[in-house]
Amino acid sequence: MRVTLSVIKADVGGLVGHSRVHYTLMEKARKILEGKKKEGLILDYRVMACGDDLQLIMTHTRFIEDEEIHRTAWETFLAATEVAKQKKLYGAGQDLLKDTFSGNIKGMGPGFAEMCFEERPSEPVIVFMADKTEPGAWNLPLFRMFADPFNTAGLVIDPKMHDGFVFEVHDVIEHRKIKLRTPEETYDLLALIGQPGRYVIKSVFRKSDGEIAAVTSTQRLNIMAGRYVGKDDPVMIVRCQSGFPAVGEVLEPFAFPHLVAGWMRGSHHGPLMPVGFTNAHPTRFDGPPRVISAGFQLCNGLLDGPIDMFDDPAFDRAREMANRIADYIRRHGPFEPHRLSADEMEYTTLPHVLEKFKDRFEKLE
Ligand code: 13P
Ligand code: 13P
Ligand code: MG
Ligand code: MG
Repeated sequence: MRVTLSVIKADVGGLVGHSRVHYTLMEKARKILEGKKKEGLILDYRVMACGDDLQLIMTHTRFIEDEEIHRTAWETFLAATEVAKQKKLYGAGQDLLKDTFSGNIKGMGPGFAEMCFEERPSEPVIVFMADKTEPGAWNLPLFRMFADPFNTAGLVIDPKMHDGFVFEVHDVIEHRKIKLRTPEETYDLLALIGQPGRYVIKSVFRKSDGEIAAVTSTQRLNIMAGRYVGKDDPVMIVRCQSGFPAVGEVLEPFAFPHLVAGWMRGSHHGPLMPVGFTNAHPTRFDGPPRVISAGFQLCNGLLDGPIDMFDDPAFDRAREMANRIADYIRRHGPFEPHRLSADEMEYTTLPHVLEKFKDRFEKLE
C-alpha cells in the first residue's frame, strides 16, 4: 500500500520556560488525533515531545501537504495553545504566526516533514526531532548517512546503494532549490551545505530508482515572521535498510555531537546532544541543543513504536563529549563563535547599541 508519513510540530508553550511540553498539551493532542483515527482520516498517530516542541506523527493515505491533514495539525496546535494559555505556560502559541488556516500549514509557523511511499515488505523508519536548533543541523548527519563511506559501509558494499544518492538542497534565503548527485558532485554539495544557516538539505532520493529516502522540515521561523520567535527545532524522517542505510548507519553520525546554531535565545553555537526521550529537556543555558530519535516499523500504515534509539550506552560518550564542548564553548560568553555572527543573530540588542552610539562613532583616518 502507498502510505504517507507526516510529522508536524510546533512549540505552543513551555514548562518551565522553554524546557518541556506540559503533559496536558500532549493529552489534548492525543484526544484530537484519536478522534481523527476513529473518523478514518488517519491510519495511526503518535504524539511526542522534544523539549518544548509538540510533535504529531501521523500515517494516512492522503499524500503530502494534504489540506485535511494540515488542518488537523493546525487545529490540534490551536487547541493545545488554549490549554497552554489557561495554564500560563511560557510562550503560549509561540510558533503559530497566523490567525486563519488557508489550506496548508506552510508558512504558518509549525514545521513539517512528510513523505509518501509504497510500504516495503518491512519498513523501518526513524523520526528525528531536535530542540534549540535550526533545520541546517541535519546537513552534516544527512551527508554522512547518504554520502560518506566512512560512515555508511553500505555505500561501498551494498549493490543497491552503490550508485549513490541525490540531495535536494534549499536556499532558504533566496527561496530556490537545486538537486545535487553524489558521489560525483560531493564537493559541490559540501560547498553549499557547509553553510547550514542558508543551504538546507530538504530531501534525499536513491539515485538508481528515485525512491525517497529522507526528508526534513526546512521552515525558518524568523525568516517567516521577520523577528525572533524561537528556533525552528526541526524534524527529519529517514527510511532504513534494504537499499537504504542500515538503522545503525543512520544513527552513527550522531555519535559525534557537531556544533549547531540555536541554544540560548536562538543565538549561540553549541553541540547537538543525542539523548533518550527522558532526557529531551534542555535546561543548561536552555540547552545544549538536543536530538531524539524515534524508531518505527510500519505495518500496513500502522506505527509499531516509538523505540527510543538513543537510549543506548553506546551514545554515552557522545553525550559526555557534548558536555565537554558545552563547558568549553560557554566560557566564551558573549563572544563569537559561541554567539552567532551578527547576521545570524535573531534576538539582538546590536541594532539598538549601534543606533544609540551613531553620533559618537568617529571616522578613522
Ligand atoms: P523573553 O524572556 O523576553 O521571553 O526572551 C528570552 C527568551 O525567551 C529566551 O529564552
Ligand atoms: P525555543 O525555540 O525552543 O522555544 O527556544 C527559544 C529560546 O529562546 C531558548 O533560549
Ligand atoms: Mg519555546
Ligand atoms: Mg523548542
